[in-house]
Amino acid sequence: MRTIAQLQDLQECWALITGGSGHVGKAAADTLLELGANVILLDRSKKSLHELHQKTYSNSTKVHTLVCDLADKQAIIGAMESVATISGGKLNILINNAAFVGTDQLTGWCVPFEKQSIDTFNDCLNVNLSAPFLLSQLAYELMKKQHYGSRSIINISSIYGVVGPQMDLYEGTDMGNPAAYAASKAGLMQLTRWMAPSVAPHVRVNNIVLGGIERGQPESFLEKYNAKVPLARMATEEDIKGAIAYLSSELSNYVTGQSLFLDGGWTAV
Ligand SMILES: NC(=O)c1ccc[n+]([C@@H]2O[C@H](COP(=O)([O-])OP(=O)(O)OC[C@H]3O[C@@H](n4cnc5c(N)ncnc54)[C@H](O)[C@@H]3O)[C@@H](O)[C@H]2O)c1
Repeated sequence: MRTIAQLQDLQECWALITGGSGHVGKAAADTLLELGANVILLDRSKKSLHELHQKTYSNSTKVHTLVCDLADKQAIIGAMESVATISGGKLNILINNAAFVGTDQLTGWCVPFEKQSIDTFNDCLNVNLSAPFLLSQLAYELMKKQHYGSRSIINISSIYGVVGPQMDLYEGTDMGNPAAYAASKAGLMQLTRWMAPSVAPHVRVNNIVLGGIERGQPESFLEKYNAKVPLARMATEEDIKGAIAYLSSELSNYVTGQSLFLDGGWTAV
């Protein structure tokens, strides 16, 4: 029987992380690098990828960057061709982490249901659900040819794909909780279940259901949120590292089609 250290070893493995220059993307990248993997960070922002690489990974030969707007189908196809070129045709891990989260300035987004826009709804679903579908399909072509190490797709979902919003949290803030985001994250969770038998036994597919991460939200929001969550705090980026290590590596070799809830107990009550 292998040891825990052997099971979590990702030396020689290749990982693609979308939204790779974002907060959770970086935490995932750091985790995989600690375990020995080569990492390709994909993001639409060339500037943020460049800045992150310069600041954090300039001494690493294991970190590569790829600019791609996941709203663009052709760009996704081109990006996956680039992944194969960069890695020499290898891919073990895909983390579908990028998300359309909008801003309070976006038309038809952080507004009451009656004013939410169908165009913005579709834009959100395109990035949060259609792009992971296409990326997974293309990644599977590479992954099923690998004969070494873990082969794992991880989707990053949200508690709002599982339970309805509690709108009182947002009173007095410019924050919101649009239907499209919730529907896209619920879709991603079901896409996980749907894909699991379709890509088995070559590849495993799992989902992480994240609770809210503390990141400078207004005090009124934080107080209300923390009072509602059993562990009495929002998540941190560090909280995701264990789940990424587990689901990416052979530690979770017999786990597929599942969701791991990192929500401080939000959905348990
Ligand atoms: N932050 C939270 O509280 C929270 C809670 C639950 C779930 N999540 C989920 O965690 C994941 C990561 O979120 P985060 O907090 O790190 O956000 P973030 O904004 O820090 O990072 C998201 C990254 O995705 C990239 N991105 C967005 N649209 C893109 C596109 N069209 N093409 C390519 N890249 C694109 C952004 O440039 C950004 O770098 C998301 O799926 C999000 O829905 C976050």
